[in-house]
Amino acid sequence: MKTQKVGFIFDLDGVIVDTAKYHYLAWKKLANELGIDFTHEQNEMFKGVSRKRCLEILLDIGGIAATKEQFDTWMVDKNIDYLAYIEKMDASEILPDVPRILKYLKDKGMPIALGSASKNARPILEKVNLLHYFDSIVDGNSVTKAKPDPEVFIMAANNLNMSPNQCVVFEDAVAGIEAANNAGMVSVGIGHEDILVEAKYNFQDFTEIDNSFLDKLLSIEQVVK
Ligand code: BG6
Ligand code: MG
Repeated sequence: MKTQKVGFIFDLDGVIVDTAKYHYLAWKKLANELGIDFTHEQNEMFKGVSRKRCLEILLDIGGIAATKEQFDTWMVDKNIDYLAYIEKMDASEILPDVPRILKYLKDKGMPIALGSASKNARPILEKVNLLHYFDSIVDGNSVTKAKPDPEVFIMAANNLNMSPNQCVVFEDAVAGIEAANNAGMVSVGIGHEDILVEAKYNFQDFTEIDNSFLDKLLSIEQVVK
């Protein structure tokens, strides 16, 4: 079978590692301290979204007007709580079959990038020992526009020397799927298909992705038509 070069871009939180639950717990703690009830449903809006934007949404939910000083303090507080969870992380928190997929693509010589909104992406990849798979890391420190803006994925494609229509994005967030579609890339949703309705393909997790699906992406002439 003829294969072509395809750029593979992975989101981090909720795709590679099970950190979405830690973001949720850290936001919930802050929310409760501010007298706001914070549900799993509301947490869907926080996925893929920058820390600053998350706090803006939270304050909106609670109808709270913060001073600049309070806002900055709460951003720091949330991150301190989040980092306390991250500190204890190890490779056991890599989501099922992620290393298999990364290894398969690496062995085929495919360029691989991270496209995450998180400013904590690099230390997390180091902690779970997956950093060496990535040819480029684009994270919350590199971008100026949050998903669903396509900036993060366009930047990753550029770093991989790939055109957007030769890239595939794995995402668990509604905003991330939108960003991938806005970038003109193939979007693969990891999670509930009734939430990630805009994804071109959808899988519950990576255990559902077999080599034949990856081979299909590698063998078609242009991944985005
Ligand atoms: C994204 C998460 O990956 O990173 C969001 O899905 C999070 O929930 C965002 O808010 C920013 O993360 P951090 O680590 O910079 O606070
Ligand atoms: Mg995510």
